[in-house]
Amino acid sequence: MAVDTLRNDRFLRALRREPTDTTPIWVMRQAGRYLPEYRATRAKAGSFMGLATHPEWACEVTLQPLERFDLDAAILFSDILTIPDAMGLGLSFAQGEGPRFERPVRDAAAIERLAVPDMDRELRYVMDAVRLIRRTLDGRVPLIGFSGSPWTLACYMVEGEGSRDFARVKALAWNEPALAHRLLDIVARSVSAYLIAQAHAGAQALMVFDTWGGMLGPGPFREWSLRYMAQVVDAVKADPASRDLPVILFSKGANGHLEAIADTGCDGVGLDWTIDVGEARRRIGDRVALQGNLDPSVLRASPDVVAHEARAVLDAFGHHPGHVFNLGHGITPEVDPESVKVLVDTVHAHGRAIRGG
Ligand code: CP3
Repeated sequence: MAVDTLRNDRFLRALRREPTDTTPIWVMRQAGRYLPEYRATRAKAGSFMGLATHPEWACEVTLQPLERFDLDAAILFSDILTIPDAMGLGLSFAQGEGPRFERPVRDAAAIERLAVPDMDRELRYVMDAVRLIRRTLDGRVPLIGFSGSPWTLACYMVEGEGSRDFARVKALAWNEPALAHRLLDIVARSVSAYLIAQAHAGAQALMVFDTWGGMLGPGPFREWSLRYMAQVVDAVKADPASRDLPVILFSKGANGHLEAIADTGCDGVGLDWTIDVGEARRRIGDRVALQGNLDPSVLRASPDVVAHEARAVLDAFGHHPGHVFNLGHGITPEVDPESVKVLVDTVHAHGRAIRGG
């Protein structure tokens, strides 16, 4: 691992709930199609997986948003679906469409065949990308590694593609709970190994994306999503390579469960935009940091509206340590990069003003 000293540690300090000069910000999907330079590199690579599986390209696009904006963290350029791909499900992204698996997992035999992928073989390209990005960043900002949550990965693995209601995986959970638990357990062990390997390769914080946790009712959320994220947090906190790294859990649409998510032992809780960040703070207290939560659609509004709404999120959180500014979900392709500049600069300026600077 590189022995660089971090020149901007606002993001890590905020996750440890330590004071910072201003509020750190990064943007979910900050390396993405709204950037013309991303589209150009992707065209050269031919496909999304072409980009993600070549460490030089993955590194190039990871750094692109940092060249334009004063962001406080970089996030590994990859995807949550690399794990099921490495398990042999055959991932592809058709142009203009979502992800698709050639061999979805639909029955007991397919679940029994699954094994935890070898991080130094099938997923070596991810670890090589982490090492190269970390070296290239050279201490500029911290690097975030990530994974999908076990539940969210199981959603795609059973369905074989995106879905409005993920009815197949929910039917599996209702009809064959023991089998569904076997699936989630092996995915959770894979996610844990994947995050620990990223930490070993040089990631400085870890985030778990539970995009579809909010599709579950309250009891099922605890049984199928939260329980396996807690298993992952326990594993990450038990390994010497990763135990000192802050872990952020982001369950979209799970405002009813914020306290329970904070109780897993994670360091940060991601929020979507449907809750007031001040209310979330009052409910959870200051035992974890909060990350979020501007509605991504605000970035389609005029610069004045972007600045106004960004200040509103900062004011709602108030003058306390432990806030990482972000959107409440990923940035969308039609956003004008100039709006992101307005957002980042407004957050830093207003974050300073809140602190009396
Ligand atoms: O945030 C970043 O900049 C890091 C890279 C990153 C990507 N995907 C790159 C990507 C991260 C953290 C993800 C996470 C991810 N991937 C999630 C969880 C977060 C969320 O958005 O809820 C999910 C559900 C996926 C699965 C996935 N990958 C879908 C549904 C799609 C297609 C939809 C889309 O936006 O095109 C992808 C493809 C994908 N992953 C793209 C990017 C930049 C776009 C692909 C392209 O360039 O064509």
